[in-house]
Amino acid sequence: MTDITPEVATASASGNAATDSFARKQREVASTSAERVDALVSELLSAAHDTIRRHKVTYAEYDVLKSWLIQVGQDGEWPLFLDVWLEHVVEEVANENREGSKGTIEGPYYVPDAPRLPAEATLPMRESEGGTPFLFQGQVTSVDGAPLAGALVEIWHADNDGFYSQFAPGLPEWNLRGAVVADDQGNFKIHTIEPAPYQIPTDGSCGKLIAAAGWHAWRPAHLHLKVSASDHQLITTQLYFQGGSHVEDDIASAVKPELILAPKPATDGSGNEVTYDFVLDKA
Ligand code: DHB
Ligand code: FE
Repeated sequence: MTDITPEVATASASGNAATDSFARKQREVASTSAERVDALVSELLSAAHDTIRRHKVTYAEYDVLKSWLIQVGQDGEWPLFLDVWLEHVVEEVANENREGSKGTIEGPYYVPDAPRLPAEATLPMRESEGGTPFLFQGQVTSVDGAPLAGALVEIWHADNDGFYSQFAPGLPEWNLRGAVVADDQGNFKIHTIEPAPYQIPTDGSCGKLIAAAGWHAWRPAHLHLKVSASDHQLITTQLYFQGGSHVEDDIASAVKPELILAPKPATDGSGNEVTYDFVLDKA
């Protein structure tokens, strides 16, 4: 028995882990012209100026904003803030011309280089992993219908308490994360458990904003996926569970009708199963 009891996950711990994880990513550095920086930043500032004038924002409110912005940085919560309230529109614009499967936001908790697993596999999990057993299976094809042999299905999701490995303390490193290599017909069969809804950490600056605005802090239960194959565009997406809490009012505005699964009881009597196929656009 090597299971570890999770310590309490704190906002600054998961925030700082998300900030470190983002810093480690090899992102292409966009070379943005002065004209474009000027246009984008001027328009953004101008929208803020309009809001200040229209609502007659006071110095007291301005100071609250300043201290809150400072706190977001100290908590390491910029990745959380941006991925919840802005990323969905960046994704919408980035993928507006795709013909294949719908994508949605990546969120702050992807980690590259998860353990490689065969086409039928069980995700790494604790002996005592809680949650309903779940079989997620499907096929990866190209937009022209051709099966994509050896497609890579990277999957990561929260546990039955809503925590992600490597971002909440006490979880095995690759818990509920894997990179499944589809078979020669593009088929995959992933055994896991159903994740719980995820709550934005409430004890940090994003939590403060949510409380101050009278919002809720929840994302519906979801699976995260990145699906890729040679000569095709990688898709980053999430899948949700029909009828689950907050499918209709995701704090991150990332749910799309095409991304809602309707699992059925598994034929072998253990938990639920669903089939979902991915269609990739050509590169
Ligand atoms: C956040 C967390 C998620 O699991 C997700 O999918 C998107 C955003 C967040 O805390 O910002
Ligand atoms: Fe998530």
